Amino acid sequence: MSIKRTDVLRVAVLASGRGSNLQAVIDAIEAGTVQAKIVAVISNKKDSPALERARLHGLPCFFVDPKPHVGQPDSRESYDRELLSLLRQHEVELVLLAGYMKIVTRVLVEAFANRMMNIHPSLLPSFPGLDVQQKAIEWGCKLAGCTVHFVTEGVDEGPIILQAAVPILDDDTAGTLAARILVQEHKIYPRAVQLFAEGRLRVEGRRVFVEQGKPVGEAVIGPS
Ligand code: GAR
Repeated sequence: MSIKRTDVLRVAVLASGRGSNLQAVIDAIEAGTVQAKIVAVISNKKDSPALERARLHGLPCFFVDPKPHVGQPDSRESYDRELLSLLRQHEVELVLLAGYMKIVTRVLVEAFANRMMNIHPSLLPSFPGLDVQQKAIEWGCKLAGCTVHFVTEGVDEGPIILQAAVPILDDDTAGTLAARILVQEHKIYPRAVQLFAEGRLRVEGRRVFVEQGKPVGEAVIGPS
């Protein structure tokens, strides 16, 4: 399936925490390297720094409280139905999960099939889930990195759009490695959004092809 579009891409960002990937996308849009418009920044955390960053840039911000949905038999789907309604109201075309620490259900996955991306701080399919930098160090990996992928129902399982690799150094801690990976996250997430905006991502099964593509993804940088 090829995703083609003509107008300015309408993007929503879902974020739970610090919001540095949100910031990278905002900065790329403001710098003109990404042709898109952020029409909603949504968080499940009222005091999320991501919401504060969005406010500073005059972007529409929404805290969607999970509490009213707790206790319902399908509480996660119910929460996602509220999100879906908000996304539809804002005519969102692409959803970005940016440090969004809630599992999305089929309610959103189906509505935004091949139109919802996530960034994850490992070279998937290695190390899905949490604490992945520590796990990569403990496993003895020599390379780590990050992945932008389309979101499917399986956590961190969707078709891979872009990846970037960094070395794992002997004296790395989870923190130092996470910081090195984050530098690459801030490059490849905006790049993936721009490829989508240009209609250049073609999804075939598990594989995502970049049409009229130059080589994409970051170089692997080894210790000297
Ligand atoms: C990023 O490292 C992102 O890759 C990770 O959370 C961090 C959010 O940082 N996401 C996941 O682990 C999702 N599985 P940010 O709030 O500064 O963008």
